[in-house]
Amino acid sequence: MIIRPFESSDADALATLFHWSIHEAGRRYYSDMQVKAWSPSRPEPERYLRQSKERTFLVAIDDAGEPIGYGDLIPNGHIDHLYCRPDRVGTGVGSAIYAALEDAARTAALAVLYVDASEGARLLFERRGFKVVVRNDFVLNGIAIHNYRMSKSLA
Ligand SMILES: CC(C)(COP(=O)(O)OP(=O)(O)OC[C@H]1O[C@@H](n2cnc3c(N)ncnc32)[C@H](O)[C@@H]1OP(=O)(O)O)[C@@H](O)C(=O)NCCC(=O)NCCS
Repeated sequence: MIIRPFESSDADALATLFHWSIHEAGRRYYSDMQVKAWSPSRPEPERYLRQSKERTFLVAIDDAGEPIGYGDLIPNGHIDHLYCRPDRVGTGVGSAIYAALEDAARTAALAVLYVDASEGARLLFERRGFKVVVRNDFVLNGIAIHNYRMSKSLA
């Protein structure tokens, strides 16, 4: 596995991975209604092309050259996305992407990282030094759901 910067040809695969990851890996911690509210349909690949102009996307690639996960870093320190292909969950992909995102944040001299972590991602972030600030309970597309605002000082 390697971690490399986003390329525009990744957009289609990442859109599929996002929806698939939520509906299979996310389903372990959230109900069917909740994962449908979280990702009602596969996002438009153009979203990645647009967002990649403003944030850092890093993509994990397996030995066959296929994307198996990705994450992003917004210049304000927010990690918005961290998604792993469901058949690779628990194999270190998310951790490797997170480590590369933290490196990028340190290179950019960011003081704080924060994330709205899903129930499934909470442990990963806790083990990497994040603390829960607050549990967010909110309504998304008409369905009650929750995540955890977490932050980590890089000082
Ligand atoms: C959250 C996610 C990105 C983690 O990626 P991953 O590749 O499965 O994570 P890793 O294999 O690197 O494991 C990370 C940690 O979680 C633990 N873990 C492993 N399998 C796990 C599982 N099925 N559920 C929860 N935690 C698990 C590991 O013990 C590991 O901790 P450690 O390294 O400190 O021992 C992935 O599960 C995923 O895509 N989930 C669905 C989408 C989602 O919730 N994204 C987060 C949005 S904030």
